[in-house]
Amino acid sequence: MDIIWHNKSRQYHLYNDKISYIMGVTPLGDLGSIYFGNRIHDKEDMSYVVNRFGLANVAMDPDTESYSMELNRQEYPSFGLTDFGTQAFEIEQENGSRVSSFVYKDHKIIKGKTPLKGLPATYAGQDEAMTLEVYLEDEVAKMAMTLSYTIFENYPVIARHAVFKNIGSDVKKITRALSACIDLPDQDYEWMQFSGAWARERIPVTKKISEGSISIESKRGVSSANQNPFVIIKRPNTDDFEGEAIGMSFVYSGNFLAKAEGNTFGRLRLLMGINPDRFTWVLKEGEEFETPEVVIARTSEGLNDLSQTYHELYNNNLVRGKWKNTPRPILINNWEATFMDFDEKRILEIAEKASQAGVEMFVLDDGWFGERNDDYAGLGDWIENPKKLPQGMAGLANKISALGMKFGFWIEPEMVNPDSNLYRRHPEWVLATPGRKSSLGRHQYVLDYSKDEVVDYIYGMLKKVMGSGPISYIKWDMNRSLTEVYNADLPADEQGMVYHKYIMGVYSLYERLRNDFPEILFESCSSGGNRFDAGMLYYAPQAWCSDNTDAIDRIRIQYGSSFGYPISSIGAHVSAVPNQQTGRSASIDTRANVAYFGTFGYELDLNHITDDEFETVKKQISFMKENRELLQFGTFYRLRSPFEKDQAAWMVVSKDKKKAILGFYCMRANVNQLPGFLKLAGLEKDLVYVLRGEEYYGDELMNMGVTLNKLNSNFLTTGQDFVSYVEVIEAK
Ligand code: GLA
Repeated sequence: MDIIWHNKSRQYHLYNDKISYIMGVTPLGDLGSIYFGNRIHDKEDMSYVVNRFGLANVAMDPDTESYSMELNRQEYPSFGLTDFGTQAFEIEQENGSRVSSFVYKDHKIIKGKTPLKGLPATYAGQDEAMTLEVYLEDEVAKMAMTLSYTIFENYPVIARHAVFKNIGSDVKKITRALSACIDLPDQDYEWMQFSGAWARERIPVTKKISEGSISIESKRGVSSANQNPFVIIKRPNTDDFEGEAIGMSFVYSGNFLAKAEGNTFGRLRLLMGINPDRFTWVLKEGEEFETPEVVIARTSEGLNDLSQTYHELYNNNLVRGKWKNTPRPILINNWEATFMDFDEKRILEIAEKASQAGVEMFVLDDGWFGERNDDYAGLGDWIENPKKLPQGMAGLANKISALGMKFGFWIEPEMVNPDSNLYRRHPEWVLATPGRKSSLGRHQYVLDYSKDEVVDYIYGMLKKVMGSGPISYIKWDMNRSLTEVYNADLPADEQGMVYHKYIMGVYSLYERLRNDFPEILFESCSSGGNRFDAGMLYYAPQAWCSDNTDAIDRIRIQYGSSFGYPISSIGAHVSAVPNQQTGRSASIDTRANVAYFGTFGYELDLNHITDDEFETVKKQISFMKENRELLQFGTFYRLRSPFEKDQAAWMVVSKDKKKAILGFYCMRANVNQLPGFLKLAGLEKDLVYVLRGEEYYGDELMNMGVTLNKLNSNFLTTGQDFVSYVEVIEAK
C-alpha cells in the first residue's frame, strides 16, 4: 500500500496489492480521474488518457479549445463549466451564482485515517491505511474544499468524503454535497440495488446501465427498507464467483441518493451522498461542512469476493469496542410471545424456560414504560411502569441475572405518542410545520432531534434507566418516516439543514450512551430493517434485519442483506409457527437453520413448544455456541440464489479453511427431478473433508459438488416444502 505523488505530472497513485486508483491535477487545475481497477505498475505520467481533441462542444481551455470536462472523467464534478452531467456538489453564492471552479492548492498524505466529526466512519490504525487529502480552492467563490481518499492495506477499498469551508466573509448555501463520484470509461455494466419495504427488505434488483441514468434515494429521514444505501455495478457476466464489480456503501443513516449516469460519449458516472433534495447547508464565514463517508470496494473475482470485503472491513474497521469481532449472545425476545401484554411474572416464566435451554440473554421488548399498553400511548416516557415492573428495570434485570442470563431492553428514543407526559409537557419538541397538522405514523410523532435540548432530555432519561441495574443490551427502534420536517427555532433559510441535523442528533445520542455504557451491545431496529446501513453499524454492531421472521422469507431477506453487510450484523431469530407475518409453518429445524446465519436467538415462548421441540432447541443452542464464531465471522459464500430457484444455499468457511458450515434450503419441493449437484466454495482444494461421514477432496466439492441426494435421499421424491440442512464440513 502506498500513495505516490508525481510532482511533475501532478498525478496521484493510490494502490495496494489489489487495486490502483489514479488521478491527477489537469492543466486547468481541477482534479481528473485516470484509472480505477486492478493494481497496475506505477508510471510518472499517465496524462495520455486525457482526451484532448477538437470535438468538444464547449472547451475550457481558451488557448487550445481542446479540453472539455464532458469528454473527460472528473473526481468531483461541478455543474456550469463544461461538464453537463450530474454534479457532485453545488454552492449558491451571495450573488446567486452557482458556478464554481475548484483548483488544486496542496495536499497531505497521512498514515492511517482521521475520524469524521460527529459522523460514523471506518477507522484505521497507522499501518492499516493511508489517507490523501487534496486541498482545492475556488478563489472567486472564496470557498475551500478538501477531498479525502483513504486506501486500506488489506482491502480493495477506497473510502471517500469531502469537506467544504467558507473562506469568504459572505454566507454560502451548499445545495448539494455528495460524498463521492467515480467516472468510469465505459458503460458495459449492470446496476444492482437492494429494494423492498417493511417485511421484505433488501431484495436485489438488477438493471442494465446505458445512456441516461438510474438512481435510488431515500427522502424518509431514514436510509429506508425501500432502498438500501448500498449499490453495486457489475459486468453483465459477473456472478457470485467471477467477474468485475464495484460497490458503493454509504456510511450514513438519513436521506441519500445513489446514481449511475451514462453520458452519450460512453462515460459512466457513479455518485453517492446525502440526498440533495431537501438539503441546503448554510455556511457562514469560517464554517465547515463535512460530508459522510462512502466506502468504495472493487473486485475482479465476483460478488462473493466483493461482499467478503465489506464483511471484513465492517467487522474490523467499522464496528467498535467490546463487540468488535465478538460472537453475539444468544438471546430471547418476548415481542412475538407477549406483545405489550405482560407483567414481571409472565416475563420470568419465559426467561426461566429459556435459561433451561441455554439462552444467554433476555430482551424485554416494547411495553415496559409509561402508560404503554398498546401503541397509542407512552412513547417518550422512559420510566418503568410499576404495574409491569414492580421493582423497576433493575429489579427485573437482577432476577434475570439470577437465572444466569444477561438482560437488555427495547427503546424507541426518537419518538413520542401524543398521549404521553413528554408530549403534554413539550408539544413543541416534535417535527412540525407551522400552521399544519403533523401526520401520525403508528400513532406517534417524531421528536425533533435537530434540537440539542430534545436530545439532551432523552439522554438524561435513558441514562438513568440504563444505569439502574445490570443492563447488557439495548434494542434501539425507530418506527416511522419523518414528515412535516421543520425546526421552528431555525430561520427560513436554514430549514434545509434539519434532516441532516436530525440524524446528527441521533448519532450524538448513540455516541454519548456508548461512551457511558461501553459494554452494552446495541442492536438497531427500524420496523425491522428500515435503517439497516453502515452508519448504524458504527454505533450498533447488529441490526434487526426484518420484522418478517418467517424462515422461508428470511432466506431471501438475509441473502439480500449479505451482499453489503456482515453475517455478524444480521439480527435473526427463531419465532413461533404459524408465522405471524406469513402464516407459514416451517419446522423448528428450518427456522434455526436460517437464523444460524445471523446473530441467532428466539422470539417465542419456549413454554409453548412440544417437549421434543424443546430438546431440539437445546441442541440448537449448543450447536450455535460451538459454531457462532465461524458462522458470524467466517468467510461467507452465497452458493445458490433463492431468487432464481426453489432452493437456496450458502456457506461459511473458517480462515484456515479447515472447517465450513453449509446451509441448504428447499423452499418449494420439485418432484420427480434429478437431485443435481451443489458446488461448494472457499475450501482448500487439496484437503480431504468429511461431510456426513464421507470423505471428499476440496476440489471435488468445489468443482463437482455434493449430490443433493446425499443430503437427503428422499426429499426430492416426497416433495416436502421448507426442508433444510445445515452440515458441518471438517478437514481430516
Ligand atoms: C418494531 C420492531 C419489532 C418490535 C416492535 C415493538 O416493529 O421492529 O421488533 O420491537 O417495534 O413495538
